[in-house]
Amino acid sequence: MDTHRRLRTPALFLLLLLVVDAAAVAEAKLVPNYYAKTCPRAERIVTDVVSQKQLSHPTTAAGVLRVFFHDCFVSGCDASVLVAPSSFARSERDAAQSRSLPGDAFEAVTRAKTALELECPGVVSCADVLAIAARDLVAMMGGPSYPLRLGRKDALASSPAAPDAELPLANSTVPRLIAMFAAKGFTAQELVALSGAHTLGFAHCSEFADRIFRRAKGGGAAAPPHDPTMNPSYAKGLQDACRNYQRDPTIAVFNDVMTPGKFDNVYFVNLQRGLGLLSTDQALWTDPRTRPIVQRYAANQTAFFADFARAIVKLGVQGVKMGRDGEVRRRCDMFNGNPAPLGP
Ligand code: HEM
Ligand SMILES: *[C@@H]1O[C@H](CO)[C@@H](O)[C@H](O)[C@H]1NC(C)=O
Ligand SMILES: *[C@@H]1O[C@H](CO)[C@@H](O)[C@H](O)[C@H]1NC(C)=O
Repeated sequence: MDTHRRLRTPALFLLLLLVVDAAAVAEAKLVPNYYAKTCPRAERIVTDVVSQKQLSHPTTAAGVLRVFFHDCFVSGCDASVLVAPSSFARSERDAAQSRSLPGDAFEAVTRAKTALELECPGVVSCADVLAIAARDLVAMMGGPSYPLRLGRKDALASSPAAPDAELPLANSTVPRLIAMFAAKGFTAQELVALSGAHTLGFAHCSEFADRIFRRAKGGGAAAPPHDPTMNPSYAKGLQDACRNYQRDPTIAVFNDVMTPGKFDNVYFVNLQRGLGLLSTDQALWTDPRTRPIVQRYAANQTAFFADFARAIVKLGVQGVKMGRDGEVRRRCDMFNGNPAPLGP
């Protein structure tokens, strides 16, 4: 009995060391010019395709940025989020947290990947395509440019349970957000900086209905009409916009009511005025732990851009797969081992 335990412990310890080491090596191996020899025009091609897509479909940038977050935060930046459910297997796309991921974002990645497969088949991973697309679109919307290392491999699995287990909800508390980000190695400051991504895009009414329909929700006449941390005219505007949201669940409003089409620091200025849309947005201003960081970014866009750039670079190397831990998918929506789909 005792002998067994003595033997097993060092073996387990060694195994853990190896696993930790492999992760460290994986990150170290991403390099800026990964495709210089194998597909020199790779980045150029992605850039061209996604900026065209952004021009024709202005919701693309926000969608791609959110999909990139969901990819990296759930089981690493490995394109597991892109796998479509099939008749054989469910995927991350089946999770409740994935349901509102916008089609335009997936379409942008598919288009870029199709162009790449014509130029250099089987070379550029879908995880890298998504990372390049997010980087380019942030810059295109006026946000910071940041360096990007490449060489991510695509996942061999996509779990339908993972997104709901790993992603925060729109009503998570700040301590919960801090804990969820800390679990992935992010500081509270990085949480606030990354939340600045809500300077772009939309949220559907169901994500914040609890904040604006308190009387209707059985609160009675005595209930406050809306979350008291909200600016009253803003709450009124949202009540109007979302009047029919239960009948029409597609109704969505801008995350940044002031400058929705621009990647800037106005999201943080909004929070100071009660113009945060999601409960998690506004709570960053209410909570004393994150308030000073919001204050700093609201006052200084350069500081926000610098911190956002550092944090998203860090997000982009989360749980990266290398070598035989992954593959370069031929299609981003299915594993290479799968049989071809039947028809379009
Ligand atoms: C801090 C925790 C976060 C929560 C609770 C959260 C939650 C949400 C929710 C509920 C929506 C609305 C989805 C919809 O109704 O369609 C949304 C949208 C969005 N999120 Fe987050 N998010 C968080 C962090 C992030 C991060 C870190 C990023 C990127 C770095 C990000 C990027 C986006 C973008 C760009 C949109 C707009 C998507 C679109 O217009 O299609 N979010 N988020
Ligand atoms: C938060 O939102 C989720 C899903 O939208 C819901 O199931 C849950 O009850 C909410 N939690 C609270 C405390 O309101
Ligand atoms: C804004 O932040 C940047 C980067 O941290 C800093 O260099 C600069 O001095 C700040 N500007 C002001 C006006 O505080």
